[in-house]
Amino acid sequence: MAEKPSTDLGEPPSVAALSMAETATKHATEQQIDPWSVSAAMDEQGNALAFDYEAISQKWNTKLIDKDLLERFERVTGHRPHRWLRRGLFFSHRDFNLILDYYEQGKDFFLYTGRGPSAGSLHIGHSIPFEFTKWLQDVFDVPLVVMLTDDEKALFKDNLTFEEVMEYSRENAKDIIAMGFDIKKTFIYSDLKFVGNGGGHFFLNTWEFSKIVNFNQVRGAFGFDNSTNTGRIFFPNLQCVAAFATSYPFIWGDDPLSDFRSAKTAAIPCLIPCAIDQDPYFRLVRDNSLRMRFPSPKPALIHSKFLTALQGAGGKMSASNPNSAIFMSDTDKQIKNKINKHAFSGGRETLELHRELGGDPDVDVSYQYLTYFEDDDEKLERIYRDYKKGEMLTGDMKKECITLMQGYVKSFQEARAKVTDEIMHAFMKPRKLEWAGNPNPIKP
Ligand code: TYM
Ligand code: TRP
Repeated sequence: MAEKPSTDLGEPPSVAALSMAETATKHATEQQIDPWSVSAAMDEQGNALAFDYEAISQKWNTKLIDKDLLERFERVTGHRPHRWLRRGLFFSHRDFNLILDYYEQGKDFFLYTGRGPSAGSLHIGHSIPFEFTKWLQDVFDVPLVVMLTDDEKALFKDNLTFEEVMEYSRENAKDIIAMGFDIKKTFIYSDLKFVGNGGGHFFLNTWEFSKIVNFNQVRGAFGFDNSTNTGRIFFPNLQCVAAFATSYPFIWGDDPLSDFRSAKTAAIPCLIPCAIDQDPYFRLVRDNSLRMRFPSPKPALIHSKFLTALQGAGGKMSASNPNSAIFMSDTDKQIKNKINKHAFSGGRETLELHRELGGDPDVDVSYQYLTYFEDDDEKLERIYRDYKKGEMLTGDMKKECITLMQGYVKSFQEARAKVTDEIMHAFMKPRKLEWAGNPNPIKP
């Protein structure tokens, strides 16, 4: 398939070009998305606009998920697409169709996702890729690796020490386990603990990949400059080679102590669920995976949008701003207060106006959260209609959202309370995994 090499995002724009654009448009800015910061476009008054996901998909040359792909998914797997697929939260992909081909033929593949432990608890935005990955693991019955990039967070956040991020890794691992992953087919690792200490072929892959990729490619993809610390420049190699099956020889029963990686294992394809901000890493690995001594296919991706911050369209959930997001560690009371006080509302200024003109569910954050967490399609439609007609009030909308989110967080917390240190260590131990794959493959 012809895909433009994505690392040719071009040179970063020159200072002159930037300042010209600035004078031309006054305050208006374009949306900007990379793995470490996400900001929406602004209009001339400095108001944040909603993210334009089709524009991102076009710019980065990904494919939008359409009805045909979802129908094929259902035919091949026998599962109804997850509501996040039906409702377009997961909206874009690279080569997901090839993953369906492999599954149809009964060929192995594996899932890979991750988290940068920048705080002790996940927020509901982070829970999206993990909950979705858990569903994919149940549907396909394949092995999963979860990378905790504590090294990345220590390198990219000036105020975080290496000691702190290792502690966050353990806490985040427990959060992730509480999402319900099957221990027989899931390996979770902290970069700082695993890669340098017995991670054998992982580090070998990292070095080989670093030899293939030059500074221009990395700078093009991530916008580094001459004052960037060298750890940051090296780090992308790790997030990339984590998509190679040979980085985990023990999962497939290969000898981790051998000098040689298995060519057969290298050929096992990988599917990466993540929000679209992580895509720059994986363009880099897709452009270079076939150049490895033991080549791996380009990893496939399935991308989500960002769950909106409480402040509304274009807002960014941030681990460092407790009022921007609902955290998986929040109490019922905190959830209630956050939604009541901070959730952007599409309601009118007064009750009379609201009854007369109706509300705007499309910009209402409580409604947005309902669209992602309420499974009942009919109920959702009814709420949309009633709010728009002014029959449902902002207070009622918020109440629906509060009840739903309290339930989601509470059932998470009940599961989290059962994750002991022993269970966490068991998930984080390098070992052979067990899975069944497709029980009824179609022979090609
Ligand atoms: P991190 O910790 O920034 O984010 C973890 C995962 O959550 C997604 N995400 C969101 N999804 C929906 N709505 C949001 N508001 C939201 N905020 C964050 C991120 O896209 C990501 O999928 N470098 C990575 C860790 C990593 C990784 C990976 C992630 C390593 N390997 C492979 C995905 C796939 C990071 O710091 O993620
Ligand atoms: N990891 C950072 C944070 O959580 C920035 C970030 C990465 C982010 N991916 C994101 C923010 C997606 C919003 C949405 O603050």
